[in-house]
Amino acid sequence: MFDEIRFNKIDRLPKYVFAAVNEIKMAARRAGEDIIDFSMGNPDGPAPKHIIDKLIESAQKPKNHGYSASKGIYKLRLAICNWYERRYSVALDPEYEAVATMGSKEGYVHLVQAITNPGDVAIVPDPTYPIHSYAFILAGGSVQKMKLPFDENYEVDEEQFFKNLHQALNDAFPKPKYLVVNFPHNPSTATVTLDFYKELVKIAKKERFYILSDIAYADLTFDEYKTPSILQVDGAKDVAIESFTLSKSYNMAGWRVGFIVGNKKLVGALQKIKSWIDYGMFTPIQVAATVALNGPQDCVEEIRNKYEKRRDVLIDSFSRAGWQISKPKATMFVWAKIPKEFEQIGSLEFSKKLLTEAKVAVSPGVGFGEYGENYVRIALIENEKRIRQAARNIKKFLKNYRS
Ligand SMILES: Cc1ncc(COP(=O)(O)O)c(C=O)c1O
Repeated sequence: MFDEIRFNKIDRLPKYVFAAVNEIKMAARRAGEDIIDFSMGNPDGPAPKHIIDKLIESAQKPKNHGYSASKGIYKLRLAICNWYERRYSVALDPEYEAVATMGSKEGYVHLVQAITNPGDVAIVPDPTYPIHSYAFILAGGSVQKMKLPFDENYEVDEEQFFKNLHQALNDAFPKPKYLVVNFPHNPSTATVTLDFYKELVKIAKKERFYILSDIAYADLTFDEYKTPSILQVDGAKDVAIESFTLSKSYNMAGWRVGFIVGNKKLVGALQKIKSWIDYGMFTPIQVAATVALNGPQDCVEEIRNKYEKRRDVLIDSFSRAGWQISKPKATMFVWAKIPKEFEQIGSLEFSKKLLTEAKVAVSPGVGFGEYGENYVRIALIENEKRIRQAARNIKKFLKNYRS
């Protein structure tokens, strides 16, 4: 019925590339196969006990069961600002420069809804976490992509990045209003230095665009690498906001807690749109999130350590199985070039083969954009024993193609 009634926004969203791999995975599981699943970025452990205890305690209080504050309770916004002060020596005003969000994805999508006029252009590096570009499509804007350049150690080639950025600024019409950056990067794991942000802020001020920075993986860094914040740059608040999430650092993905801080005009727009759309997270979740940010951080170190060990086991065992991959410095992913003999078929077909023949599920790189082709993303969400099992399966699989 009503075939003539179209939903243009929904029609502009492509079929999820990952769905193809997912369907095969589910069918294999239904058939009783044991699939080792590296395909989702979904943390596999529980939230730390002291945070859960606080949630329970707070949920016992009747006064906490009503509508909450859409921009987040004051105590949580204060904890967010203190987190920035402690970690980056960045001073933020909890009233005007911070919003608590239902996960950083909700915050980002609603921010983009609030600030995008029809036809507005945002520059988004490719490959990308899909919603970074599709938020603009959903909001009636459009995306100018630019290739994300990085070396074999997944360090962004900063000079080339700025060249690509200038090219994108020249190519786009109308003039881009926004640039999205996400370092450490999903899916490529690419990292940047603070100098990169200094230059970026300079360019943004000259070319007059805002920067939306996502540091979801800020805590998941290895080998001495530390995540810089764009807000550490003097005057960055004039042109930038930054988002963070408790999903990864505290294993709280299902709780849906994140935040966005920085530029008053953008933060104000998000606060306003949220005040129309939602009544805030359940107060006990906000109270527990406050405890997460203010409390002991050894739980974060444990989680970081777990990913680092898994990364080491994966790189080492896959290498012995015949698949050489460079070590990422950050995130909960490994961004792996597909083995040479499969370059012809591309990342989607390779992922399907790996799933059906080696019983290992990964995400095809092409799902993250055209420059993700020839790579797959391996999420470090299976334990070390399962990673070693995957390596054994892959060894047999590769042998079949190499002998
Ligand atoms: C780069 C990046 N940003 C944001 C998110 C969303 O996190 P959440 O909405 O759970 O805060 C993810 C989740 O995988 C991510 O990879």
